[in-house]
Amino acid sequence: HLKALIGPSILNSDLSRLYEESQKLLDNGADYLHLDVMDGHFVPNLTFGHPVVKCLRNKIKDAFFETHMMVANPEQWISPMADAGVNQYTFHIEPVDDVERVCRKIKESGMKVGLAIKPGTPVSDVEKYISMSDMVLIMTVEPGFGGQKFMEDQMIKVRHLREHYPLLNIEVDGGVGPATIGCCANAGANMIVSGTAVIGAQDQAATIKQLRDTVQQ
Ligand code: DX5
Ligand code: ZN
Repeated sequence: HLKALIGPSILNSDLSRLYEESQKLLDNGADYLHLDVMDGHFVPNLTFGHPVVKCLRNKIKDAFFETHMMVANPEQWISPMADAGVNQYTFHIEPVDDVERVCRKIKESGMKVGLAIKPGTPVSDVEKYISMSDMVLIMTVEPGFGGQKFMEDQMIKVRHLREHYPLLNIEVDGGVGPATIGCCANAGANMIVSGTAVIGAQDQAATIKQLRDTVQQ
């Protein structure tokens, strides 16, 4: 059966201390790291790219790295991200003409495939590619910034996917924390991204555990 996995987003942490913040999250029980890559085109914000991910990988050898590629041309960064030591390449299907080709290239480069959709994108758009993927990400905010309000109306997509694909890894991302994890768990999400709620928590380990316990039960 499916495992509940918690992948904190370091987007709203002190990025001048990226390694320390990441290691702290792992020490506090994070199952994987969700690394938000933005190019200023697909979303109106900029973060970091493969050179930074590679430096982080040099310091953190064994953690599972997921990159959430909020970029206009996901195909362009597959091989640099694979070289940087990324384990899962999650990309938005909206700007992509040939999703199957991108999936194939990601697999050939040795990474897992994640397919992401924005709140305005119908779930049927991603369904046709599920057999080629390892995970589907249902965004619960408009991508671009941390700290936004959770969109509960997106749970209908999670529910639909869980009903039809009992073994699919379904991730939620955006505004997820102790106040909203119940909705996500009920709908059937099993991979949980949480940014500000975890980064800003008084007790990071307790918050991560609470998120996992809510999904697991
Ligand atoms: C939004 C990013 C999310 C976000 C999560 O564009 O993809 O990963 O940073 O942060 P919170 O949990 O604060 O919404
Ligand atoms: Zn993200």
